[in-house]
Amino acid sequence: MSTPHLLFKDIDEPGLDTLDVYVKRGGYDNLKKALTMPPEAVVEELKASGIRGRGGAGFQMGTKLSFLPKGTMDKYVVCNADESEPGTFKDRELMQKIPHLLIEGILIAGYAAQATKSFIFIRGEYDQQASILEAAVAEAKAAGYIGENILGSGHSQDMWVHRGAGAYICGEETGLLDSLEGRRGNPRLKPPFPANQGLYQGPTLINNVETLSTAPLIIGMGGAEYAKLGAENSTGTKLVSVSGNVKNPGNFEIELGMKSRDIIEGLAGGVPDGRQVKFWFPGGSSSPVLLPEDLDLTYDFDTMAKAGSMLGSGAIIVVDDSNKVVDVALKLAKFYKHESCGKCSPCREGTNWTVKMLQRIDAGVATPMDLDILASVQDQIMGNCLCVLGDAMAMPLSSMVKKFREEFEEHIELARARNPYGDEDAGQAEPPIEIAAA
Ligand SMILES: Cc1cc2nc3c(=O)[nH]c(=O)nc-3n(C[C@H](O)[C@H](O)[C@H](O)COP(=O)(O)O)c2cc1C
Repeated sequence: MSTPHLLFKDIDEPGLDTLDVYVKRGGYDNLKKALTMPPEAVVEELKASGIRGRGGAGFQMGTKLSFLPKGTMDKYVVCNADESEPGTFKDRELMQKIPHLLIEGILIAGYAAQATKSFIFIRGEYDQQASILEAAVAEAKAAGYIGENILGSGHSQDMWVHRGAGAYICGEETGLLDSLEGRRGNPRLKPPFPANQGLYQGPTLINNVETLSTAPLIIGMGGAEYAKLGAENSTGTKLVSVSGNVKNPGNFEIELGMKSRDIIEGLAGGVPDGRQVKFWFPGGSSSPVLLPEDLDLTYDFDTMAKAGSMLGSGAIIVVDDSNKVVDVALKLAKFYKHESCGKCSPCREGTNWTVKMLQRIDAGVATPMDLDILASVQDQIMGNCLCVLGDAMAMPLSSMVKKFREEFEEHIELARARNPYGDEDAGQAEPPIEIAAA
């Protein structure tokens, strides 16, 4: 299947991050086009495109937009640029190289929603990208694309770049809203959903960087034309971030429905010589792992779901046979334990106990029965919290225990043989803090 470039068209053109170059290649023409259409018609185009959210959950953007109530109350557009799912680095490239495409997308979405205020919530670690965005917003304001009565259309919309402080939970849309409002980023109870009651209690459209950056392209080519790209129920192109044990890691724009093997072995060059794929995460570290025999599946939302996993943010992490599954599981669990905001007990306690149990397995003080307890802890996390941060650990963890149970058991036996006296501190427990000699 060919790989058309929409988002990544001329992505490495020098100066593309400036208004001058962006406008010379047709930038903001799609905003101009949208502003000549009734807002409802813009919503319809986005609906017709079938585009599903690129941030993780895969909800249809046009449908979400249509949930926002009509009326003159304050409405908001919030761009989720937190990009905190491990393995995901596509939004960074878009913001760094073509920030005006995102700004244009936010303006089009804001016009469609009749929102007057918009925010880009960007993760604190993306200092360079935040500076680029701030400069681009200032340029767009000076040129009249942002502000009062944009291009004489009657639509007014302001925009701010807000830097987060680097917490995974602030990528979760309601944690993000709390953080943006100046509170500690904790998830909110849903409903109400942000479309009805979001930022400052007002109707709020929250979309990912890639989703919003695609909006101008959809308006340009028309929703129906965009929907011809990709696969059924997974229209369009998608940026995939491929990392882990591959020869050529990076971001690639693919047409959804491409064979997974062609992404991993073709675009990303496959695993290093002499090694085999052991398993792979198809949609970030939160997605249940798939096996080498799944490489011939097409890469789209429904196929990944049918295979028991998910497309998520489009981050493919490849693990080759030089790695132990217990090491990967422990690394992953430590991340989620660290990032759990602590608001819900199953997540707070479950991520902590999972790390402890994996450390026991590694230390040689566990028995195969502990694997059943480990699996049952994951079951007790899933579906029992305000947000899915806990599930994001439980889903891949469960899949690893299920698909690699024999290796876990073998690891337990070998570790027990190495630790006959049951020293709880053996294995990969946190290293002791070293105190430098005075
Ligand atoms: C723990 C957690 C972290 C998340 N992190 C991100 C993120 O970094 N970026 C993102 O776009 N969506 C993230 N999401 C998904 C958002 O909650 C939300 O679904 C998304 O911003 C909606 O945009 P979209 O429909 O365009 O995908 C996260 C969700 C959870 C539960």
